[in-house]
Amino acid sequence: MAFKTLASFVSVLAALQVASGALTRRVACPDGVNTATNAACCQLFAVRDDIQKNLFDNGECGEDVHESLRLTFHDAIGFSRSAEANGTFGGGGADGSISIFASIETNFHASLGIDEIVGEQAPFIARHNLTVGDFIQFAGAVGVSNCPGAPRLQFLLGRPNATQPAPDKTIPEPFDTVDSILARFLDAADFSPAEVVALLASHTIAAADEVDPTIPGTPFDSTPELFDTQFFIETQLRGTGFPGTAGNQGEVLSPLPGEMRLQSDSELARDSRTACEWQSMVNNQSKMMTAFAAAMAKLAVIGQDVSQLIDCSEVIPMPPPPASAAHFPAGLSNADVEQACAETPFPTLQTDPGPETSVAPVPPS
Ligand code: HEM
Ligand SMILES: *[C@@H]1O[C@H](CO)[C@@H](O)[C@H](O)[C@H]1NC(C)=O
Ligand SMILES: *[C@@H]1O[C@H](CO)[C@@H](O)[C@H](O)[C@H]1NC(C)=O
Ligand SMILES: *[C@@H]1O[C@H](CO)[C@@H](O)[C@H](O)[C@H]1NC(C)=O
Ligand SMILES: *[C@@H]1O[C@H](CO)[C@@H](O)[C@H](O)[C@H]1NC(C)=O
Repeated sequence: MAFKTLASFVSVLAALQVASGALTRRVACPDGVNTATNAACCQLFAVRDDIQKNLFDNGECGEDVHESLRLTFHDAIGFSRSAEANGTFGGGGADGSISIFASIETNFHASLGIDEIVGEQAPFIARHNLTVGDFIQFAGAVGVSNCPGAPRLQFLLGRPNATQPAPDKTIPEPFDTVDSILARFLDAADFSPAEVVALLASHTIAAADEVDPTIPGTPFDSTPELFDTQFFIETQLRGTGFPGTAGNQGEVLSPLPGEMRLQSDSELARDSRTACEWQSMVNNQSKMMTAFAAAMAKLAVIGQDVSQLIDCSEVIPMPPPPASAAHFPAGLSNADVEQACAETPFPTLQTDPGPETSVAPVPPS
């Protein structure tokens, strides 16, 4: 190509780039396969592929994903704005302290059982070049992308390693009052009641091992492998029995055999500050996705200087689309709803055909 032609071609390209802000220069990664908007993101492709294959059992939305999401929360929420304001160390937030100081933090009562995923993630942290806080949030975001109906979460890179453990009593417990739960989220990162509801969409891909250790893997909704709105529907139904002996601290009766209902979820679904927001998720998958992604973006950087972080969200896979429509489990209907939102009636939903069935536990992985 003649120099003049090349030069004019280049200047046309340059003009095009100026005209369209959407055209961003990408760098070729050393792996020879991927490109990234920032070279610092390149190393994440290999981390992603490793955890998808070897931590999440080839891209499943199973127990290890659920536990990795719970871990993002338990690491990040260990932060107190009021303690900082009082001049005492209020924790480092999303800084990896839960894993770096595992011998302290996994013994906090609220984190019972979290040692399992901390142990499973440890070899991955050891063989990759990420700080622990980055790894925990990255694993959570990649893991959630395996769940049909989930939003693609943001991932920012660059959290320094924690140098101190988080203070105890910063993680909410299922027997806490709504007052104390809302106050804790406000103190941690100025979360509004609506943002607390949004964060609890996480309990749509969740089960409890420790609340009642005699029934490990008991899910919080009938579809713990789907990021659907069933959690918001089923927590609003009248509790009728399971597990019969409900009496473990923080556990109340659920509407379905095999399903666990936390006292905190039950109360947040019925409190005047949160009930209408809770109900608004019932038949609005896209609202739930958007609200959860926004609240998670806030959670993932608690205590961090966001101006120092690099946006590597492009490495997070696109989650599969929703795989179910809002419905009542077989045998249940609008007649079983305990209406709590005073402003709007509960949406009318279809009931699954067939007799009432029990919810299977989430298999250990
Ligand atoms: C009011 C606040 C919250 C309370 C009281 C609470 C409490 C709990 C409890 C007691 C469990 C069961 C643990 C076990 O026995 O194994 C659990 C599981 C879980 N929580 Fe929460 N949680 C809260 C908020 C959150 C938030 C904000 C997230 C994430 C953004 C989250 C994610 C999860 C996940 C994914 C699981 C399932 C873990 C698994 O299946 O192994 N939780 N939560
Ligand atoms: C900070 O000080 C205020 C006022 O004395 C007090 O109410 C609050 O509990 C303190 N917070 C912490 C976390 O120490
Ligand atoms: C490790 O990560 C740091 C921080 O992102 C980066 O500067 C460094 O180049 C990385 N080293 C390797 C071998 O990838
Ligand atoms: C952060 O801590 C982990 C685990 O202790 C370690 O592998 C990593 O090298 C540390 N990173 C930095 C930047 O200090
Ligand atoms: C879903 O939520 C969005 C955002 O709040 C709202 O604009 C929309 O009207 C809702 N859709 C339905 C069907 O309720």
